[in-house]
Amino acid sequence: MSDISLTETQVRECLRMVNDPEIGRSLVELDMVRQVRIGAGNSVEVSVELPTPAYPRRERIAQSIEAVLAARLPQAGPLTVPYSWKVKGKETGGAIGLRAKNVIAVGSGKGGVGKSTVAAALAVGLQHFGAKVGLMDADIYGPSVPHLLGVNHRPEIVEQKGPDGQVIRRIQPIDAQGLKLMSIGFLVNADEPVIVRGPILHRTIQQFLQETAWGDLDYLIIDLPPGTGDIALTLSQLLGLAGAVIVCTPQQLALLDAVKALNMFRKVKIPVLGIVENMSGDVFGRGGAKQKAAEMGVPFLGEIPMETGIRINGDAGRIRDAISEQSPSGTYLLSMCEQVAMQIARSLLETPSMPTLEIL
Ligand SMILES: Nc1ncnc2c1ncn2[C@@H]1O[C@H](COP(=O)(O)OP(=O)(O)OP(=O)(O)O)[C@@H](O)[C@H]1O
Ligand SMILES: [Mg+2]
Repeated sequence: MSDISLTETQVRECLRMVNDPEIGRSLVELDMVRQVRIGAGNSVEVSVELPTPAYPRRERIAQSIEAVLAARLPQAGPLTVPYSWKVKGKETGGAIGLRAKNVIAVGSGKGGVGKSTVAAALAVGLQHFGAKVGLMDADIYGPSVPHLLGVNHRPEIVEQKGPDGQVIRRIQPIDAQGLKLMSIGFLVNADEPVIVRGPILHRTIQQFLQETAWGDLDYLIIDLPPGTGDIALTLSQLLGLAGAVIVCTPQQLALLDAVKALNMFRKVKIPVLGIVENMSGDVFGRGGAKQKAAEMGVPFLGEIPMETGIRINGDAGRIRDAISEQSPSGTYLLSMCEQVAMQIARSLLETPSMPTLEIL
């Protein structure tokens, strides 16, 4: 406590010197300071708004504020830092009526590396932190979302009022404990092969984006099929994605495929958020993706160990159980979610929104 007075302006001035520990820019520049209040005994309350609820170790922000206040304004009393969050995004879905702040595609250059598992984990994990999330299965020939989440109902068609009062028919996404899901798997019988040709494929993806009643979402995660960039191209023609997450396994071959995936996303003008190494562990080695990410100049978004629990939970439709903080894989999966969310927050500062490609 001190007799020397303290003003809000002085504190705000100090906050210009406090850098966000994750993004490396000042809290003021990032527009993260909501309110500054000086109370009895020069106590200070700084309300901070985070760009995502999946902000890792947020207490470091309070520590940084504390350090700067101690050095610059010794008369300052005890500090409290209440946190709130608001997801920011490019919000480029407007043209097709999609109200998702960030659309994230999960892909790879190779099949079977765990794209669907990672996409589902990302969706469930971001929801666990509190975000509003949707998960869309863009794998029309081999849908996995119903299986991983253990749900298989037929979606209902709902009628909504459009802006001019006209009636619009929309597909109601399947609600899995608040997570919104859409997959071709909900629309066809599991044992029937899906036969869809190119133009219809494009149309189906467009319908899933445009005619699903997603509502307002912070994040829409899209699970891409293996192989070529057809679907990625379709997506980038329809909206500006926040970016793509590339999944790869530690084997050399799969890593070369990561380069392929990277080039594919670049070609269709989808920014790459980074690489996740899945199934890392003794059998396949470890750490290859981190090195590769550095070589390719893209962020490394974390590693997920090879773990029987992930496979068993996924196969049993309980991928949610793999995310819990109690499960051994949970911490890795949640950390990956944080890295993806933070990478989006960083990339929003760097790049002006990517223009939507003309539909070919
Ligand atoms: N970290 C992991 N540990 C153990 N098993 C895993 C892990 N990640 C994925 N799997 C298992 O590997 C198999 C393939 O995973 P998944 O279906 O997610 O891959 P994919 O890349 O989506 O495949 P596709 O190319 O066919 O779409 C599944 O049986 C899944 O449970
Ligand atoms: Mg898959």
